Amino acid sequence: MTSRGKTVYRCTDCGAEHPKWAGRCEACGEWNTLAEEMATPKAPSGRGAAKHSRIGVAGAPRSTAARAPRLGDVKGADEPRWLSGLDEFDFVLGGGIVPGSMVLVGGEPGIGKSTLLLQVAARLQNAGHAALYISGEESPLQVKLRASRLEEPSNDVALLSETSLETILATADAMRPDVVLVDSIQTVYTSDLEGAPGNVGQVRECAARLMRFAKDTGVAVFVVGHVTKGGGIAGPKTLEHIVDTVLYFEGEGSLDHRVLRATKNRFGSVDEIGVFRMTQSGLAAVGNPSALFLGDRHEAASGSAVAALLEGTRPVLVEIQALAAKAGFGTPQRVATGFDGRRLALLLAVLDKRAGLSFGALDVFVNVAGGLRVMEPAGDLAVAAALASSTHDRALPPNSVFLGEVGLGGEIRPISQAERRIAEAARMGFTTVFLSDRSIPQRNGSRSIRIAASRTLDELFGALFP
Ligand SMILES: Nc1ncnc2c1ncn2[C@@H]1O[C@H](COP(=O)(O)OP(=O)(O)OP(=O)(O)O)[C@@H](O)[C@H]1O
Ligand SMILES: [Mg+2]
Ligand SMILES: [Zn+2]
Repeated sequence: MTSRGKTVYRCTDCGAEHPKWAGRCEACGEWNTLAEEMATPKAPSGRGAAKHSRIGVAGAPRSTAARAPRLGDVKGADEPRWLSGLDEFDFVLGGGIVPGSMVLVGGEPGIGKSTLLLQVAARLQNAGHAALYISGEESPLQVKLRASRLEEPSNDVALLSETSLETILATADAMRPDVVLVDSIQTVYTSDLEGAPGNVGQVRECAARLMRFAKDTGVAVFVVGHVTKGGGIAGPKTLEHIVDTVLYFEGEGSLDHRVLRATKNRFGSVDEIGVFRMTQSGLAAVGNPSALFLGDRHEAASGSAVAALLEGTRPVLVEIQALAAKAGFGTPQRVATGFDGRRLALLLAVLDKRAGLSFGALDVFVNVAGGLRVMEPAGDLAVAAALASSTHDRALPPNSVFLGEVGLGGEIRPISQAERRIAEAARMGFTTVFLSDRSIPQRNGSRSIRIAASRTLDELFGALFP
């Protein structure tokens, strides 16, 4: 087909425009930064124009004045959100699906993205919100096979196996479902660009047009995005800027639980998580994440400590495991999984200097059980306690939780929202909370829990390992 409009290659770094693709941008000298895009943002000419006139490439002519309504007259602000009924999913979105929004769901291969979106499609359909599921990666039979495993009946979900953006948009426009789910953005291509599906220019252009479709029609659009080795969604960084909401679906391959996390949300808070378990019949919401993450803990073992993290608004208890073992030849290893490597190096230095624990001849491994990531400093004290427990080869007191940031002077520092974390610990049957003497809560909501406050690591470990 030669109805293709003219395209140019723009440097994603400096913005310079080039008529042809090249490995290096002549304007700024960067390598591999050129991405294809449509040459004219104005109305296209010829056959392409008619084809895309409804939802197409063209912007409105610039010459006519637009009407600017009063903000108070803008309609739709109080439109209710649609609930999929998959509670954790609705929760992470900020309380359901916003009509006309576009949501990107990223995740590693095989993590369960297709399963999640198919379940969402089925539930929405069954709740009276028409769903159109578009698979660019799997045949209708493959999708059907997955669907037949699911708990929720999905016979009424419309299914299209297609990769042409033009066909997808035309179909969606003709059907006008409430929700369109595209699996995946990397397989969709527009014939307006020369590049192969999945390349930066294609992904960005397709996403931008799906976004415009969502805004023009009020249809909510979900797109799956594959994740690169670096952990980002494959394709341009701008993809995450284009969409309204970015969800990451993650988990450890070997474990059956999955965490859904919002990293951007124009309609709700970020860093909320939803926790699921992958089962025979699809993803099941886990209402009590702490129980899951603490599931198979060996309390009597040395090197294990429990922290209470805030995942968005929700406190979650996680086990931190540390192992300090005699190193072989060469530089001792420092391996952290689910915890920042530089933060670990800092804690080791503080433990050495301020608490008299030397790791110079030890390999050190730190692991956050269950595949969660400890992002907040409130996890420091549990990591330090697990490390101290491992070097002493003595278990920490049973049923205890460690809450605190560790300072360079070895001081234990207060953390935010101590009350909520303590309440979660109490709910999960813990009996002692170790924290900073400066974050003893005013109100200890739970009388069943003992608060053990210390000023420094040295003071705390002196008491725990006399
Ligand atoms: N019969 C089954 N019972 C339990 N779990 C299953 C079963 N079949 C598949 N799974 C799970 O579903 C996962 C695949 O899910 P899905 O295809 O939704 O992932 P995806 O993220 O879309 O993958 P891709 O990146 O390949 O598109 C498998 O890794 C497996 O864990
Ligand atoms: Mg898939
Ligand atoms: Zn450049």
